[in-house]
Amino acid sequence: MTVYAKVIGTGGYLPEAIKTNEDISKTVDTSDEWIFERTGIKKRHIAADDETASSMAEIAAKQAIEAAAIDANDIDLIIVSTGTPDNVYPSTACLLQHRLGNKKAVAFDIQAACSGSVFSLDIATQYIKSGAAKTVLIVGAEICSRIVDWTDRGTCILFGDGAAAMLLQASEEAGVLSTHIHSDGGFEELLKCPNPQAASDKTAEQGYISMKGNEVFKVAVNTLGKIVDETLTANNLDKSAIDWLVPHQANSRIIAATAKKLKMSMEQVVLTLEEQGNTSSASVLLAFNTAVRDGRIQRGQVVLLEAFGAGFTWGSALIKY
Ligand code: UT7
Repeated sequence: MTVYAKVIGTGGYLPEAIKTNEDISKTVDTSDEWIFERTGIKKRHIAADDETASSMAEIAAKQAIEAAAIDANDIDLIIVSTGTPDNVYPSTACLLQHRLGNKKAVAFDIQAACSGSVFSLDIATQYIKSGAAKTVLIVGAEICSRIVDWTDRGTCILFGDGAAAMLLQASEEAGVLSTHIHSDGGFEELLKCPNPQAASDKTAEQGYISMKGNEVFKVAVNTLGKIVDETLTANNLDKSAIDWLVPHQANSRIIAATAKKLKMSMEQVVLTLEEQGNTSSASVLLAFNTAVRDGRIQRGQVVLLEAFGAGFTWGSALIKY
């Protein structure tokens, strides 16, 4: 009997405060027109001072638990991906486990930058398929606003804060059909966020995101095109079998290139970046949750998730919802 990892619930959280393109154009040399035309972004949410990755993760996770109608103690593995953990340790996943009142799960964080969602999905699927876990909670929780250099117009226009969760459970019914994840560690200088506390030269590195945007853009378009082919080939599927594309929300031009490759109309692409910006590892899960809750993604449909981030890391997941 084939065991699948089936999505049984999703949740999402966006902080209340919003920063618009107009707000940013008052502090750096940019404009709403430039940002929207080059990225597709209009606004992003910004966490309040008292919010943390674990507090946002808790809200998203509780929504997913409610949607799945399970008990928090049914979860036996919790994976959080975040670039802004509450602490170096304990992990945000451990803090989340405690916030949920769960006593039985194994909990750990992963770091795959913006690809954290599909990396978590891959790990969850492997645990479920091997029988090592039955019910797995994955969460992406990011407070990008605290690691963005608000004087750098090349990056501060892009990122936003948010958290999203997905619950997966072992099932005989089809669920995750395949996952594909990759890394190439040769690109540190194109996209990175140093950890100033651990740097040997504390004066040299600030703890902010730096990116050579244009170079990242080109690699991302190329790589995401290849991952689409890899996913379709692995499943022996034609492009036409995919009902929805749920991409990482980095740039609408990158997303449009992937949709074109799939010969998909933009109507079949879940876009949240106009309202949310790039929420790093939360973005794919936030978009998935949005389209499930507004009724676009229906049970039985086939959904392609993909992401690309620092490392570089990249990956995809094909899900029969
Ligand atoms: O999530 C992880 C993966 N990340 C990504 O996938 C991000 C990929 N990169 C991008 O989304 C785009 O490269 C950006 C949106 C960051 C930049 O867009 P671009 O079309 O690649 O612009 P560029 O970097 O080639 O810069 C073009 C011009 C430059 O001016 P000059 O040298 O032509 O005079 C920049 O200085 O635009 C200038 N520029 C800006 N102008 C107004 C750069 N940022 C801004 C800005 N407002 N915010």
